[in-house]
Amino acid sequence: MSTNRSLKLTLKVWRQAGPGAPGHFETHELDGLSEHMSFLEMLDVLNEKLVLEGGDPVVFDHDCREGICGSCGVVINGRAHGPDAETATCQLHMRRFKSGETIFIEPWRSEGFPVVRDLMVDRSAFDRIISAGGYVSTNTGSAPDGNAVPIPREDAEQAFDAAACIGCGACVAACPNGAAMLFVSAKVGHLAHLPQGQAERESRVLAMVRAMDAEGFGNCTNHYECSAACPKGISVENIALLNRDYLRASLLERG
Ligand code: SF4
Ligand code: FES
Repeated sequence: MSTNRSLKLTLKVWRQAGPGAPGHFETHELDGLSEHMSFLEMLDVLNEKLVLEGGDPVVFDHDCREGICGSCGVVINGRAHGPDAETATCQLHMRRFKSGETIFIEPWRSEGFPVVRDLMVDRSAFDRIISAGGYVSTNTGSAPDGNAVPIPREDAEQAFDAAACIGCGACVAACPNGAAMLFVSAKVGHLAHLPQGQAERESRVLAMVRAMDAEGFGNCTNHYECSAACPKGISVENIALLNRDYLRASLLERG
């Protein structure tokens, strides 16, 4: 028999009017929440209440609500995407919380992700890193038949695992250095495992790492909080590959 626990929660929600404005936690009480709601549906309930009371709704990012697009993401009780491993905020359910609990909700905090408003941050830095080299630009002619380019199974699996990155930015938010290494390594690793990615392998890694540094992200010091917070289980082995490829490309560049 299915149950439907009703939750009463105290929310401490980060409110910030704009990028340079001071922020603060605002307290809200919600009662009668279904345990089957997603975390974002709970925020929808809060916003309906705020609008009915004549207040401003809390601004937060979301799109697919299926763990696919990477748009959502908040820090919940100090953890990027909340308490569940390998779960984006949109797939987190309220059954993970106890009635009577107080929940702190904050935006990603990183120099590379300035706050736009409330819980929404500007992640266009990731787009600029991708623009720097996260693509294949060689002319490959018309689309080849499936399986026409043989790829060893292990390479195909590693490329597929890296390609699962949805660009949410939780890795940056979780890292004490605000490093974007897991994201960049997933994008570099995805193409580095495929034959189509080899022609631009060196120029890609140099350009993407330099773009990452220019955006103000920190450096990896092997805390691995990134991987623990990642909703797609991106492995830190990709960071090792990124470091190896960057070193090799730097040496080749110097001649
Ligand atoms: S590596 Fe994981 S946490 Fe980082 S952007 Fe990609 S999916 Fe999100
Ligand atoms: S809203 Fe698309 S991944 Fe969460």
